[in-house]
Amino acid sequence: MYKEPKYRTIEEASKEELMALKNRAMGDFYKPTFHIHPEYGLLNDPNGLAYYKGKYHVFHQWYPFGVTHGMKHWMQLESDDLVQFQRKGVALSPTNEYESHGAYSGTAIEVNGKLFLYYTGNIKYDKVKRSANQCLAIMDESFQVTKYDKNPIIRGTEEGYTGHVRDPKVFYKNGMYYMLLGAQRQNETGAIIMYQSKDGLCWEFTGELTIEGFDHNEAYMWECPDYVEIDGVDVLIFSPQGMKKEKEKYNNIFTVVTLIGKLDLERQIFTTKQYEEMDAGFDFYAPQTMKGKDGEILMFGWAGMGEFTYPTNESGWAHCLTCPRELRIRKNQLIQLPAKQLQAMRSEAVMQSGRTKEWSIKTGTHSFELIVSVTKMAGNTVTIHLFQSEEERVTITFDKEQKLVSLDRGQMVNQFVTEYGTVRRAYVAEDEEIKFQILSDQSIIELFVNDGEKVFTSRVFPQKESMGIEILSEDEMDCKLEYYKLQL
Ligand code: FRU
Repeated sequence: MYKEPKYRTIEEASKEELMALKNRAMGDFYKPTFHIHPEYGLLNDPNGLAYYKGKYHVFHQWYPFGVTHGMKHWMQLESDDLVQFQRKGVALSPTNEYESHGAYSGTAIEVNGKLFLYYTGNIKYDKVKRSANQCLAIMDESFQVTKYDKNPIIRGTEEGYTGHVRDPKVFYKNGMYYMLLGAQRQNETGAIIMYQSKDGLCWEFTGELTIEGFDHNEAYMWECPDYVEIDGVDVLIFSPQGMKKEKEKYNNIFTVVTLIGKLDLERQIFTTKQYEEMDAGFDFYAPQTMKGKDGEILMFGWAGMGEFTYPTNESGWAHCLTCPRELRIRKNQLIQLPAKQLQAMRSEAVMQSGRTKEWSIKTGTHSFELIVSVTKMAGNTVTIHLFQSEEERVTITFDKEQKLVSLDRGQMVNQFVTEYGTVRRAYVAEDEEIKFQILSDQSIIELFVNDGEKVFTSRVFPQKESMGIEILSEDEMDCKLEYYKLQL
């Protein structure tokens, strides 16, 4: 079997080794307070999201032994309220031959009262050559996860595709279970392939999902497909690798797209007239949706990207998930809002409103929420500085004439992944008013523009003392500001 030091399961480590890893990362200033993050090691994709038996269940990809993409495990977390999550430990460790190089990403669905967790067993033959098995684990009513004894449920990959086939999304419609898998064709273009099953156990390959209206053959692999119905509209989400940059779009190494359209399961065609980059920030990938307690559609994404060095690598931990977001359709557009449950964290408020050119506050914390609504601008731009100090700042700007919002992290002391640029931009529909809602949590900011019309997810690593917020315009504007310290 192909071996490299990074392909080791957590069972192979001693207690002392794990304790040393934990101690090294413990107490790091950049650890978020309410964003799911690893105690140590590297976190990537959210997995197996579900509201099941009265609790929210979130798993994530986890490599315990460092900040590289090594042997992936599933870490399990649980929450009563979607705000406070408890780490429960490793749910899936890739200890079997059918998952010899990692328990890769996948999704959850309730089947006959149990939570079925589908995932990919990653197999490596050498540094490049690989294959994949699709696997199942079952969570019972006491939230114990057990691997299915007849794994894998799908062995290897189909003819016409390379070994890059992974990330099962399973959904149920009209008496049938459907599985979507991210795939790479032999000609190195990305695709989604499909399987069907009557019982969720026995699966039959039914070919590719034809996608009409999305023509990006430059993308060489599509990861993490997701299909969800939101407010009666079919939405397909996936993470293509290799999309060509188009002005302000697809500026990161990898991206996430959302397609709004119609899924015809009989013909296996998804037709779209409209697709978008899901997030305009620097750090957003591999999102996954779930149904919340009240049937609302929630989503978590990985607030990370590619295989870059982030500032916390030095402390032996890397990345976090986004906050939970609610997805909705408004004017035939997909919008994203922070899950309403997060409002429970609001404390110590500052409220202001009036006509002004300039406001500033000192925060005293890096975990806060800021909502700024601007109308009747006499000038052309409004600028927000976060983490303002003599040394640094993050700059968010709205340019009314261009209807353009930008986020600039190029003036921060801690710089990383600068080869992909330090500014991100997105256009908005309106020029008469602008609303910014910012959730900041130690080393992540999520900027929601105009109630979720555009979202920018970005990691930032401010100095401890950089506590200023400024809101500026060249001329007067009507401005309403809400600031909250966020506390668990
Ligand atoms: C996306 C991804 C998935 C894969 C997982 C491995 O970030 O590459 O396609 O299942 O990460 O950790």
